[in-house]
Order: sequence, then structure tokens, then C-alpha cells
Amino acid sequence: MQVLVTGGLGYIGSHTSVLLLEKGYDVVIVDDLSNSNEKVLKNIFKITNKTPAFEKIDLKERESVSKLFKNYNFDGIIHFAAHKSVNESILYPKKYFQNNIGSLENIIDEIKLLKNPINFIFSSSCTVYGQADSMPINETFKLKKAESPYGQSKRKCEEILESVIESGHCFKNITLRYFNPVGAHPTSIIGELPTGVPENLVPYITQTAIGKRDFLTVFGNDYNTKDGTCIRDYIHIMDLAEVHISCLEKLTDVNDDNYFKVYNVGSGKGTSVLELISLFENVNQLKLNYKIGKRRNGDVIVAYADSTKIKDELNWSTKYSLENALETAWKWELNLKTNEQRNQN
Ligand code: UFG
Repeated sequence: MQVLVTGGLGYIGSHTSVLLLEKGYDVVIVDDLSNSNEKVLKNIFKITNKTPAFEKIDLKERESVSKLFKNYNFDGIIHFAAHKSVNESILYPKKYFQNNIGSLENIIDEIKLLKNPINFIFSSSCTVYGQADSMPINETFKLKKAESPYGQSKRKCEEILESVIESGHCFKNITLRYFNPVGAHPTSIIGELPTGVPENLVPYITQTAIGKRDFLTVFGNDYNTKDGTCIRDYIHIMDLAEVHISCLEKLTDVNDDNYFKVYNVGSGKGTSVLELISLFENVNQLKLNYKIGKRRNGDVIVAYADSTKIKDELNWSTKYSLENALETAWKWELNLKTNEQRNQN
């Protein structure tokens, strides 16, 4: 089975590509390298002993997408490729709408030309729920206005997919609303590779612990939560990667040509920022330099998932602990440093 993985050199894409290759799928990675590195291909090879096909393509370019679909016969598509910085999206909303929505539209145009319904998995985000009224969040919750153009672009993509399928164009879609992915591959050969200053908590923590950043700022400790800091649902990247395999298997089995499902993907547990820091310190036996700062604009206070639907319907459940995620995230950061030093010598 040939699977197109767009954004396959990114954080979630690379971990998923590794699992796909290990399961025997024929993987074609498309990435424009705007927020990733071609070296990840070599790292994927180091783990799997297989080299996926790689095409450096900007999916906003209609012609390139058309050529891609002429050159391959995809049975499945996992569409990760998107810009994902909340802050950047506030500064450059047009960039986010054009890229995230434009790329999906180009792929859909090609899907419409295919003879057989294709299996399509779309990466969405829990950001589409905004600040939900109660916890845990399930898929029936009303979607609220997204806090950022990034979030709005994800919501728009979900709407486009639903309406294309409703209008009778044959393809089978699962849309996944990810909560907060953390951790790295057990080999420490691939992991999260933020460009510039990280926006997300765990890479900021590991970069502080290794000395690349002086201290971590905890964005607010005066929220109405158990310790005053925000609560999130952190899911191990390996568990998240595994979900995509379960989805592909499900889509292959279903006969409904206009299949459309939305699932939350989270651990179901809420962890505060201070709890996460303390867990990171305990697991890795170190002290983190952090300060309490002001609230960050646009942060929801609490978000954690009810993942019962995906557990029941796809028989998927989490296997890895948050402790393991924080241990592997740290090992990955250490490994990056070793490699940087080796390259300097
Ligand atoms: N945080 C800090 N200090 C930091 C970074 C983060 O205190 O330096 C806090 C945030 O305020 C938040 C928590 O850590 O309370 C998690 O923040 P992240 O940036 O890691 O994650 P978010 O939940 O804000 O963002 C994630 C994804 C986004 C997505 C969003 C949806 O990274 O892509 O969930 O809610 F839009």
C-alpha cells in the first residue's frame, strides 16, 4: 500500500513515517522543508533501514501537486503539512490561510480526479474547541471561534473536507484533533526539532535544561486551576504516530465511499504546567530554572480530551506514559547536543 505523507519530515510526520515503514507500507514523503530538515530522511533510514521516496514540493503550487499525483498511485494520504505557529499566524494570517487551506484544496482537487475513493487522514487540532465549557472535551462539543488564524485555518480545513464528502465526492476521511504531542522516538534518533525559539512547553524546557535558554517562563500562575497554571493533555508522540496506522487500517476496511469521522487524540489526563515541570525534573534527575511570568495571550485555561470514541471505534489506546515522553524528550535534546559537538569538531 502506497501512502503519501505530506509534512513527513516534521515532528509528527517523521514518527508516523517510521511506523509506516516498519509495518511494510510504501511511503512517499512530501515536504517543502520550510520547517524541517532533509537530514531527517537519513535518520528515518537509521531507524528503519528503509529510505522512503522524497519529493520536495510546495503543496500550494497547483502544478506540482498535479505532477505528484501523476507520478504515483497513492492508496492513502496522511496530510500533516501545515504551518503551525500560533504566534506567527497572528502576525501573518494570510500566510497561514494560503498555505494551510490552499494546500488542502490542491490535494482535494487531485483526489476528485481519482477513479477509486482514497483513504485520507487529516491532522487537525484541539484548538478548534477554543475554551470548552466543561472537561473532558468530546467530539460532540460545539466548536468555538478559534483564538488564532492558525486555529481558524484548521477549522476551515475540517469544514472543507466535510462539505466535499457531503457533496458526494468519493473519499474516505478521518480527521484527527490532536491534543499536545510530546516526547521522542525511543532511539533518540528523531524528535521535535523547533526552528528558532520554541513556542511549545516541552522543547522550551529541554532547551533550558541543556543551557540553550536561560530560564523558562511559566505563562501565568493565577488561573482558576489546582496550582494556578494552565492544564493540557500531553500525548506521547509514539502513541500519536500509532493512531495513524489504526486509522489507515480502518479506512482500508470500510466500504462506505463517503466515510467521514472526527476523533480526538489525547491521553485523557490533564496536567498543569507546574506538574509537568516537576515530572520532568524527577524523571531526569535535574533542576529546571524557571520563573513565573505573565499570562500568554490566547491561551485556553484547561483542555483535555475524552478519547473514548477513538478507543471504542479504532481499538487504539495509549501505551506510553508521560514520564517516558519527558525522558525521551530529554534524551533527544542530549543527542542533538552530541551531534552538534561532533559536527563542530
Ligand atoms: N507554556 C509556558 N511557557 C512556555 C511555553 C508554554 O508556560 O514557554 C505553557 C502555555 O501557557 C500552556 C502550556 O505551557 O499553558 C502548553 O503550551 P504549548 O505552547 O506547549 O501548547 P498549547 O496548548 O498552547 O498549543 C498546542 C499546540 C498548538 C495548538 C494548541 C491548541 O502547540 O499548535 O495546542 O490548543 F494550536
